Formats: sequence, structure tokens, C-alpha cells
Amino acid sequence: MNPLAVALNKQIESSIIGRLLSDMGSRMFFPKGIVAQSSEAAKRADRFNATVGMAYSQKKPMILDSLQRLIPSLASKEAVAYAPTAGQPVLRETWKKMLVEKNPTLKNFNLYLPIVTAGITHGVSVLIDLFANESDTVIIPDMYWGNYRLMLSERRKAKIESFPFYTESDGFNITALDTVLGRHTEKVIVMLNFPNNPTGYSPTLEEASSLTAVLKKHADRGLNMLVILDDAYFGFFYEKEVMTESLFAPLSQAHKNILAVKADGITKEDFAWGLRVGFLTYGSKNMCQEEYEVLEKKTMGAIRSSVSNISNLSQNLMMKVYNDPKYMTEQQEHVRLLQRRYERVRAILADKPTTTLTPLPFNSGYFMAFRIRAGLGEALRNALLEKGIGIIAVNDDIVRISFASVDEDQLAKLYDDIYATAERLS
Ligand SMILES: Cc1ncc(COP(=O)(O)O)c(C=O)c1O
Repeated sequence: MNPLAVALNKQIESSIIGRLLSDMGSRMFFPKGIVAQSSEAAKRADRFNATVGMAYSQKKPMILDSLQRLIPSLASKEAVAYAPTAGQPVLRETWKKMLVEKNPTLKNFNLYLPIVTAGITHGVSVLIDLFANESDTVIIPDMYWGNYRLMLSERRKAKIESFPFYTESDGFNITALDTVLGRHTEKVIVMLNFPNNPTGYSPTLEEASSLTAVLKKHADRGLNMLVILDDAYFGFFYEKEVMTESLFAPLSQAHKNILAVKADGITKEDFAWGLRVGFLTYGSKNMCQEEYEVLEKKTMGAIRSSVSNISNLSQNLMMKVYNDPKYMTEQQEHVRLLQRRYERVRAILADKPTTTLTPLPFNSGYFMAFRIRAGLGEALRNALLEKGIGIIAVNDDIVRISFASVDEDQLAKLYDDIYATAERLS
């Protein structure tokens, strides 16, 4: 193993990080190569800086005029230069500040700086590389984003253990989570995604506190847990009983055997899906600065060895957006627009029969899902395609409707067609 990795591992051998890292995570470090040497040179080489693989002219990165004309408000350094591996420091500080504003429970927590990733998928993938070994178990409720399967089972050969998402009374099934956790003694990874894809469900305040209590109970008996909070749809909460803070807020301060990580980003929250900027924020009770720095270096190693660094253009554009006094108003207007679509869908469903299509409980996010007769998922999807309507068949008895992607005045027609088609097929 590289001596730099050995030194990092020594610093965290008695902490939760040491107990959770995968073999790859143990091997990770941030090399003192080109990136580290050129960042040293950026501070000290005031005569000639001949380090980095970028072309400069008059101390500015070269840029094609045809490109610069498209982005007049950005200097070439902001548009085409490489970004630091962990992300632009100002953007990291800004995201951290916004995290605390959106999650007031973090106010007195010594929150470490978020690390920039190329979107949330990349963030989750980096976490899986760092923490999941081939035979490790990842616990996920049985309604989950399909890409997790690709990342966990196919990419890392980890073992997915799922539990029923809902209770019989249509709440989040904390008892089932408790039971699955009870089967493990040393290490598990738990993946939670709220607002959820595909169901559009987020826990109520009461469920969020029971969930935290259950995880703490298992931490108390010595189970080491990495809890990944995929907060892709954070902020789209439409009912007053729903927990509007991330579960990261309580879990990061819950127990020394719980390492919580918030994977989030601008993708859905700031309506910038293709700009590819996400964040990983680590938190664990009583974890010290030195340990967070080790985690940061290992995460930087995983980034450097996969995508190297994240679009500087996207990061700098978002920095300018966050400095714009109109940002908050514009963002909230978009959220309210989705809220109105949610309310419209609720009103439409209130008038429909529940025989062929059973809506699963939903209260947040971009989606809602129907349970349908087993075997009908693909048939319904195909029949709707014939009518020029696209929906997702999550599996043979669940279909997902993205109300976020259909204008409010079109929703009634969309649902009428879905219901009529489902009736015809059943
Ligand atoms: C739960 C969940 N996580 C992550 C993502 C993807 O995020 P990103 O585009 O930032 O990789 C999605 C997008 O569909 C999602 O539904």
C-alpha cells in the first residue's frame, strides 16, 4: 500500500472511518503529484509557473474567442481552467452555509466543508467505492432508484438487502428497517432517499425521529453504519407534517458508530440537471477535524482517479447564481410551481376510483407512483406510448408518473388517459 495511504489509515484506525472503509477506501490517498505540486506553485511560484497541463497566455488560461463570446460574464480562468479536486472553495463554503440555513438543527454542529462531485450519482458512486466491499450489505427500502442496483450490485458486487418501504397503514416502515438491521453485527451501509424516487414519499417528523432512534439503538449495540442520505429532491416538501430537514441533520450528530453522508446537489434543487454539480458532506458525532481531513483526502483520491475534477464552468456559474439577489425568489417560485402540480394531482386522484390503480402515499418530490395488478407494468407503459404518453414501469406492478415534467393544465388529461388505459387492460 502507498505510504501516504498507510499514514492516512493510521490517523483513523480507531475511528468509525477505519471501521467502515472498503479495501479500495483503505488504499485511497491524495497523491503529491501534479495537482498538489501545482497548487503549491500557485501560492509560491511568482516568477514562472510551469507546472500544470493548461496553456496560458499573459498569465491567463487561453480560451477560444468563439467560446468566450458565449460566456461574456466569466473570465477565462472561471470558464476553462481546471477546478480544484475537492471543488471551488467559495462554492463549498456557500453550499455549507446554505445547508445550515435549510437544516437549522445543524446550527451548533461543527460541519465540515462539502466536497464537490460531478452530480449526485457520482457522489454516491464515490461513496460506494470508498466504503463498500464485494460482499458488504447495503440496506435499502424496496422502492429505490434503479441506478442504485447498477452501482451497488453490478459495479461493486455489494449485496442489496431490502425491506418493505411502507407499513400497512401507509407510513415509512421503520419496524422493517429495525428487523433488517438486527441481522447485522459489525458493519452495514444504509441508503435512504427522501423525497423518494419513485414514490414521492418523505417521512413525517414523527417517523424521522423514530428512524433516528432505531439507527441509534443499533449503533449502541456496536453496529457500525454508513448512512447515505441521497437528498437529490431536497426542498420539495408539500405537506406540513413532513420533515423538512434532511435526516443528515439528526444522524450526523446521533452516535459515534454512525457516519452520515449527505449526497445532494444543484441537479434537481436548482433545476440544473446537466451542469453536473453535486456535493458530499460527511458528519459523525464527536469526529475531529483531523479525521474529517482524512475523509476529504480519500474522497479527493476517489475523485482524482475517476473524473479528476468537476466542471469549473458549472461551479463558477452557480457561484454567480448564489450571489444574485434574485436567486432565492426564483428558486422558490419554481418549487411553488411543482407544489401546485402536486396539489392538482391530489385533486385529480380524489375523484378517481382506486380499483385498477392504487396511488402509493406521496407528499414530496417530483413523482408519484401507482401500484397496479402484477404483470401489468410494461403493458400499461406500452399501451400509453401508443397514445403518445410516456411513463416509467418501475417493475411489473409499479408505475411512476413524473408530475414535475408535465404542465399543470395538462395533468387532468394525462391522468384521464392513464386511468382509461389501465381500465381497458385490466
Ligand atoms: C434518487 C436520485 N438520486 C440521484 C439522481 C441523479 O442525480 P444527478 O443527476 O445529480 O447524478 C436521481 C435522478 O434521477 C435520483 O432520482
